[in-house]
Order: sequence, then structure tokens, then C-alpha cells
Amino acid sequence: MIKIAVMGYGTIGSGVVQVIDTNQDSICKKIGQGIEVKYVLDLRDFGDDPIQSKVVHDYQTIAEDKEVAIVVESMGGVEPAYTFVKAMLLAGKSVTTSNKALVAARGAELIAVAKEKNVNFMFEASVGGGIPIIRALNSCLTADRIEEISGIVNGTTNYMMTKMADEGCDFDEVLKEAQDKGYAEKDPTADIEGHDAGRKIAILTSLIAGQQVDFEDVHTEGISKITAADMLYAKKMGRVIKLLATSKEAGDTYTVMVAPFLLPKEHPLYTVNGVFNAVFVRGNMLGDAMFYGSGAGSLPTASAVVADVVELAKHIGRHIELEWRPEKLPIADYKQQSMRFFVRTSADKATVEKVFGTVEYIDVPEVTGETGFLTAVMKEKDYEQKAAELGNVLQMIRFH
Ligand code: HSE
Repeated sequence: MIKIAVMGYGTIGSGVVQVIDTNQDSICKKIGQGIEVKYVLDLRDFGDDPIQSKVVHDYQTIAEDKEVAIVVESMGGVEPAYTFVKAMLLAGKSVTTSNKALVAARGAELIAVAKEKNVNFMFEASVGGGIPIIRALNSCLTADRIEEISGIVNGTTNYMMTKMADEGCDFDEVLKEAQDKGYAEKDPTADIEGHDAGRKIAILTSLIAGQQVDFEDVHTEGISKITAADMLYAKKMGRVIKLLATSKEAGDTYTVMVAPFLLPKEHPLYTVNGVFNAVFVRGNMLGDAMFYGSGAGSLPTASAVVADVVELAKHIGRHIELEWRPEKLPIADYKQQSMRFFVRTSADKATVEKVFGTVEYIDVPEVTGETGFLTAVMKEKDYEQKAAELGNVLQMIRFH
């Protein structure tokens, strides 16, 4: 019997206990022995709930118990999760976490500690919830050099973009609805300003580059300035607006950014709607692949955590090599990327052409008193210069 502990009995932690209870038999067969949750670490007590018999309030109780081989961290945030996880690894226990803030900030260091102690640190659920993308990158796609990894990795914003596109609602209206449904937090900043997606693409890029990418270096724009009028223009162009977290090979580094993009029908991410997530990967041998599924929620996320527990149980006493060196990767300047830009301006067509030359106008009858146009392909730094010269830019969305 493998004894495990769960640190944090919130949405994910309670999901982990539920997944183990529900699928105990099939999970046991996969490992060759049973799993028992010996401890649950939480600040709270849970009254008459049967889980109460396992609750401890001091993480040292778990660290000091030699019977516990695997620890799940589902507390969220960098501290005290970092202190607790490091203590577990140093005590010779393998750890799995669903905590993207911890992995983005301290992943490289915790992998190194795990290696030193001949245990493992896994984090499948930290990106894409239940979608198997981390293990895919770490084992199934290791024959490839990854040229691009782009994803819809935030369910809240994808729900909002889908709703705005389908129903023509305004941003504030759809945000309120997402909050009422429990998708968006009371303080929705991390989702709608792209910070959550920024951490996730920093983790994915660290894995494909094999070294640390700091999320603070990732150029991040959210969806809070997207309007119902933008959706009308997108529809006219036969496109959808999606918040993409994207990383593209640029010489010996990557261009990494989070921003709303106008996607064409042919793009595999075009049809990813609602709270679903998907990650598109282009390998130099594989070509294109896409991973799609539930990117959040108690049971989908817990499913990925428990899959890590199974993997950890199969590798007790053996460290699985994983390249994520702590040296920081200097990422490429996103302003050197070339693409087309969709622009809305209050300037007239003559002024637009004087500054941008030949453009493609997009006319939407419902939107008056402005000019919508698509630029030619140009570098972002040149676009910025021309936009400043034009002035009166109401909106810019990148064309994929
Ligand atoms: N707030 C995140 C989302 C939760 O909406 O996708 C999963 O990381």
C-alpha cells in the first residue's frame, strides 16, 4: 500500500481524494498496489466529514512520516507551498502539484532538489488542467525540436470570448455572467489580463527550451479591451478572437507572448470554445499536433494530479530525468515579429493610406464613425511607429 498526503483540501485537493476513492480499483491495478491518503494538510477542520480523521495542521507531521512516499500539493500560490514542497522533497518524498504559480516561479529549483534526493517533482495539472500536455512534452515529443507551442490555456477568458462572439454581448455583461457561473473569480484580473496564461506559457516554454523562462519577461495583453464591435469585425473577416499564449522558435530562443489574436477558420484552435482549453504543438519531425480538453475544474484537474501520483508510484527510488535548467533564457523581442494587424481608428481613409500605404478596409454597417482596416505584413515595431503617427487608434488586434 502506497501512503500519500494531500496538502490543501480545496477544489483540487478534495477532487484528488474523490478520484482516488472512485477509481481505487483500476488505479491499484495500474500501480500493482493500493493507494491510501494518510494525511490531509489544511488550516481548517472539517467537522463531521470523514476526511477530518486525516486532517493535520503542521506540514512537518507529513515530512517526518517515513511511511508517506508521495505528496500532492494543491494549495496554490508560491508561499507557503514552496517551503512545504521543498521540505517534502528534502525528506525523500516525491511531489505532484497543480500549482502553476509555484511551478513557474520555482520549477527548475524543485526539479534540481528532486534529482539530488533521487525522487520526482511532477506538475501535469499546472497547465491545461486535465489535458495531458506536460507529460506529452517530456516523454512523447522528446524526439522533436519544438518550433511552436500555442494554446488557449485559460478557460475563463475563452468562455467569455466565445459568449461575446456567439451572442454579441459586451465585455462587462459577459464577465458578470462568468462570475455568476463560478468560472471567473471575484477579482478576475489574473484571468482577464492574461497573467494566468502568461505563467502557463512560461512553463511550457521552459520545458521545450530546457531552461528557465520567467513569466515576467512574457509580453502579456489580456482581453479586457475587447468589445462587441471587435466581434462584429472578426465575424466580417470570417475569424474569431482568441486569447492565445504563444511561443515560437526564433533562432536559438523563443518569442513568447499572450495576447488576443484573430484566428482563421483553418487554424486548429478556431473551434476551441467555451471553457475548453487546447494546446497546439508544431514539432520539426512530428508536424502539427493538438491536445484538447477540460483545462480547469475539480475532477479534470484532479485526474491529472492522480495520474502523476500513479507515475510517481511506478518510479519510487528512481529519478526521471527532466531538462529544465535554472539559467534564465533571454527570450526574443516580440516587436521583431512580423504579421498583419487589424486596426480601428477614428482617422479617415486618406490619413490611413498616407501612413500605412495600401491597406484592406473592413466595413461593418453596424459600426459607424470609424475606419477598420488590415495592414500589410510588417514588424510589430514598425506597426507601433506608424500607429503613433496615425494617432486615434481605437483598437489593434493581431492577425494570425
Ligand atoms: N482560472 C483558470 C482558468 C483556472 O480559467 O483556466 C485553471 O488554471
